[in-house]
This record gives sequence, structure tokens and C-alpha cells, in this order.
Amino acid sequence: MVIDNKGSAYDAVVNQIQKTGPIPFEEFMEIALYSDNGYYSKPTSFGVYGDYYTSPSIHPIFGYLFAIQIMNIWEYMDRPRPFTVVEIGAGDGTLGIDIVSTIRSADMPVSNYLEYIPIDKGPNKATVEGTAILEADGLDSCNAALASCVVISNELIDALPVDILEVRDGRTNLVYIGVDEQGNLKEELIETSLDEFVSFDISSLEGYRGPLCRGLGQWMPSVLDLVPKAFFLNVDYGYEESDYLSMRKSSRLLQTYYKHVDNLSPLFRVGDQDITAHVNFTALRRVMAQRGIKPVCNITQREWLFGLGYSDVLNGMRLSGEVSRRELNLIDRLVEVEGLGGFRVEMSQRGMNSPKFSKLNSLIDLSGAFGTMPPVTDKHMAFHLNR
Ligand SMILES: C[S@@+](CC[C@H](N)C(=O)[O-])C[C@H]1O[C@@H](n2cnc3c(N)ncnc32)[C@H](O)[C@@H]1O
Repeated sequence: MVIDNKGSAYDAVVNQIQKTGPIPFEEFMEIALYSDNGYYSKPTSFGVYGDYYTSPSIHPIFGYLFAIQIMNIWEYMDRPRPFTVVEIGAGDGTLGIDIVSTIRSADMPVSNYLEYIPIDKGPNKATVEGTAILEADGLDSCNAALASCVVISNELIDALPVDILEVRDGRTNLVYIGVDEQGNLKEELIETSLDEFVSFDISSLEGYRGPLCRGLGQWMPSVLDLVPKAFFLNVDYGYEESDYLSMRKSSRLLQTYYKHVDNLSPLFRVGDQDITAHVNFTALRRVMAQRGIKPVCNITQREWLFGLGYSDVLNGMRLSGEVSRRELNLIDRLVEVEGLGGFRVEMSQRGMNSPKFSKLNSLIDLSGAFGTMPPVTDKHMAFHLNR
């Protein structure tokens, strides 16, 4: 393959290959996304001004309903004081700002006890409530009270570097990235025996190609292992393993984004285009179980938002006459099953009994004074509509 557009992190990739020989795809992806000139070193890679948008960047209603979920969890956890919410992969801080603004405006005691800690691995220029977003390893050394906390993420896990698995002749192989004499990046397959597949029958997977995230737990700072009572809420896209590791999904689970165009080769524009992988939720649950975390539920974003009162809030906006039809249509993208509404919300917990989702969301009175909708700002797509 000839690479006509090398990209800002190309040199870093080639330097590494020259030092060590071909590198596993996971190492290539780490450099492409997270090195000094990598994709996430640019503050506007995603969101309103970026290559793709995420739910918080559509409209503050997402952070508003997320806040209602967190307030319900506070009730379920017996109103801990202080109450710490840790957001991992906070990006430009939009979700955190909307959640904190909703909870602070609520006429409920939780607003006095909330401590919100946003964390990100990228260039942390944003702030939430004037507090800078912490570096990825910053939680270990910060003095936050972590006796009871809620850990949240939106589209974090799909951004973790992955290997690429290929099954050929009944054997497992990993994709490595090398460079040819003309300086073009190229793939090489290296047969590798993988612990994950020792007792896995791969006979039906001949020709399969797909991501293998071997660092699935690495997003969670180790200090969180010491927290006795914790709730986890990870929103992302992906499948259960029975689907994930099937020929139906072969070659369809790794995606690239560049200026809203998807699926160019990941070897193009290294560092200038996003590379993401669908999440294997079964594997995620296995990793969580090793850390004493038990599943609560895995539902679609659509089901989740409706369960949190989406239709009532939207009807209220419609009846107010203050929100344009275009804005209402934009908001609906959050619940469209073919798009963001089809994302999965994986909830889990440590140190409590696992509640049913419906019970979890009936603890605060949704008709009460539970906070005002945060303002639409230039970080939301809704701001840029011709309203
Ligand atoms: C797809 S973006 C999502 C950002 C934001 N949550 C949103 O929904 O708009 C993924 C973010 O996760 C961050 N990230 C990736 N790995 C991380 C890690 N191990 N710890 C903290 N942040 C991480 C990236 O820097 C990036 O900002």
C-alpha cells in the first residue's frame, strides 16, 4: 500500500520501528493517538470542531439526564458525604460542566457534597468548575475523599489502543506495523499464541480479523481498587463477545474518522485521523470482575435516557415554544437506535447489592426541583444551529 499522506505522528512511528523492528498494532495506535504529535494532542480533534461528535457535545440535555442518574445513585448509596464523581476521559470537559451545573442547581442536599474529578490523558487545557482536568495518573496522588464514588466515562473505552487479531490456518496472529524501503507503512502478520484463546474454539473463525483490547482495565486508576463502595457507568459502542468474535463482525470493528469521513486505512494520516475500536462488553465485564466489580445492567443509550425522563424533558422543551424544531431534531440523535441511541450503557458496582435499573431511577422525584438544564454553549452543536 502506498501512503500518500503520512500525518503528524508518522515520524514517531517510523523512529520506533527503526529502533525495535515492526511494532504491534497496539503500540502503533498508542503513538498515533497519544504521542506528542498524536491525534489527541490536538485540542479540537473531536466535538463541535472535530472529526466526529459525541453525545455531550450535541446538547446539554445529555449531561442533564446523566446528572439525574448520578443523583439517583447518590440516594441508592445512602447519601454519602462527601460524594465523589470521577470522570475518566473527560476530553474538553463538556459533560463534566453540564453534570456539575445541573447538580449544583438542584434543590437537593447532594449539591453540597459533590466533588467532581475529571481526568484525561490528552492535553488538559479544559477545566470543570475552574479545576483543571487531571492527568491520567493524577488520581493516585490527589487527596480526594474516595470512600464512596461514582466513576463515569463516555466513549473512553473505544479510544484505548488495541491489537489486531487475524485467524489464519487455525492459528492466531497479531498485526504488526513495519516500514518498507520507500518509507511506506505496511502490515505484517506474526503468529502469536494468546492466553485469551487457549481454551477458545477458533475453528469457526477462519479468516476473522478484529480488534483485541488487551489493556481493557488500564483506564481505571489503581487507587479506585481501594474504594469500598463504587458505582461505574461506562457509555460506549460495542457488542457482547458472541457477536464480537464472529465472522459477521470480522473486519468491521475498527474504525477511523477524518473530517467526518470514516474507514480510511489506519495507516493513512497517522496522528491526524482518529482510530477507534468497538468495545467487547463481555471482556470488559471479565476485567471488572477481577477487580471485585459486579454487573448491574447493560442497556442501550436510548433505553437509558428514556428511563431517566427523556420524553418528559423533551415535551417540556417542545411546549415551552423556546426551542426550535431543528434543535429538537438534533437532540433526537441521542436516542436514534442506528446512531448514538444504540450505544450501550454498562453499569456495575462494588460493595453494594446490584439494583434493577428501574429501581435505581425511581429514587428521586423527577417532577421535583432536581436542577435546571445547563445553558447551550459554543461547545454544543445546538449552539451552531441556525436557530
Ligand atoms: C473519544 S474521546 C471522548 C471524550 C469525552 N468523554 C466525550 O464524550 O466527548 C476519548 C477521550 O479519552 C481520553 N483517554 C484515553 N485513554 C485514557 C486514559 N487511560 N485515561 C484517561 N483518559 C483517556 C482521550 O484523551 C480522549 O480525550
